[in-house]
Amino acid sequence: MTAGLPEERPQQHVPADLNALEPAIWPRTSGRADGAVTIGGIDVRDLAKEFGTPLYVIDEEDFRSRCREYRSAFHDGEVHYAAKAFLCREVARWIDQEGLGLDVCSAGELAVALSVNFPPERITMHGNNKSLAELEKAVQVGVGHIVVDSYEEIARLGFLADKHGVRPKVMIRVTVGVEAHTHEFIATAHDDQKFGLSLSSGAAAEAVRRILALPQLELVGLHSHIGSQITDTGGFEVAARRLARLLVEIKEEHDVVLPELDLGGGYGIPYVVGDESLDVKVIADGLREIVTKVCESAGLPVPRLTVEPGRSIAGVSGVTLYEAGTVKDVEGLRTYVSVDGGMSDNIRTALYGAEYTAVLASRVSQAAPMLSRLVGKHCESGDMVVRDLYLPGDLAPGDLIAVAGTGAYCRSLANNYNYLPKPAVVAVSNGQARVIIRRETEDDLLRGQL
Ligand code: LLP
Repeated sequence: MTAGLPEERPQQHVPADLNALEPAIWPRTSGRADGAVTIGGIDVRDLAKEFGTPLYVIDEEDFRSRCREYRSAFHDGEVHYAAKAFLCREVARWIDQEGLGLDVCSAGELAVALSVNFPPERITMHGNNKSLAELEKAVQVGVGHIVVDSYEEIARLGFLADKHGVRPKVMIRVTVGVEAHTHEFIATAHDDQKFGLSLSSGAAAEAVRRILALPQLELVGLHSHIGSQITDTGGFEVAARRLARLLVEIKEEHDVVLPELDLGGGYGIPYVVGDESLDVKVIADGLREIVTKVCESAGLPVPRLTVEPGRSIAGVSGVTLYEAGTVKDVEGLRTYVSVDGGMSDNIRTALYGAEYTAVLASRVSQAAPMLSRLVGKHCESGDMVVRDLYLPGDLAPGDLIAVAGTGAYCRSLANNYNYLPKPAVVAVSNGQARVIIRRETEDDLLRGQL
């Protein structure tokens, strides 16, 4: 994904083989059998027949294997999966079973986790405007950490800790002033934005003073999240260095050693051929080295590191399956292929100019590449799933199309625009498929209305 307007982007190159599934972009268990794409050992034609389309398909083995890779790369720290990327009860169970913690940013996400008895002590509560009710719930159930994002919140937490006779562990979300190279809407560490307390203005240092003045709050560390879909390690390293320096200043001013550092998430994944991605081990080793160097040279113990990956665990594990409904050739320009979903199940293309890879999934084709635009069925011309791509020239209504890399921030940003029901989510593994979120019905759409 690039930060410019969609028009400024170069067109995707013509793939050498339209039927190929680039391993870094498609789920780890995917392949082709009898011409059709298979995921988790299941033919997508069978998935479409049994569960309908559009359909979110999650490769459970892919998802879990990425959890394990993070766990082993950060063996001496903590990995908290960012629930906002994609959460449902079953995913919360996987996260628990794989031994990760969970980052939640609303009472709703917290409720999903608690509904499957996710251990509250492994949950971190985020949010730039947590309500008093959300904070109270977090304090009452005893979440492991609350990341403080404003002065108001410090006062509210002080009040709630007194009221409930508890001493919550808190961290301070620090805006470290890094310009992350990603889309403006998902960059979060430059000074001019709503998240966190600024390092450069002194707001973060002031938050430290205010929290330390409240003995009912236990300040355990600092937090930073510089943005999302970031593919170079430079920004993370600057953030880690600046936070480590703040730890040193806190020691000097207060003689307090904070034992924890949470460096957030944001690790990018490849969506199209040529996209870079970050290697988990490289991230872990790089961050560990910087923090160790800064702290050791200041005579401070090295804090325990936490990271909060979302997209890089869920993203590649998910694929959206659509059925093509119409194929419209706009003479001399391109062919519009309309599918049975669109910006209600994937708004990322319209919102961020996101790019995706899609293939004809129900069969292979040797037809010549056709410059296409994969569009949805919504009443809006910005309703695109993939703005520019090549599909086989014989693509026809009834064909299945699979879009890769939709495991993160598609279902969680899904909406009911034009009263489209949200698709089901099916988990596939070892030849078995099961619905983990059922498809919405018209009754669901009408529920709650007079
Ligand atoms: N930690 C915090 C505090 C966050 O705010 C986020 C994402 C994450 C971790 C996880 O970031 P990840 O590893 O998934 O990049 N809707 C946008 C992404 C928004 C990300 C918001 N915060 C998208 O579809 O690209």
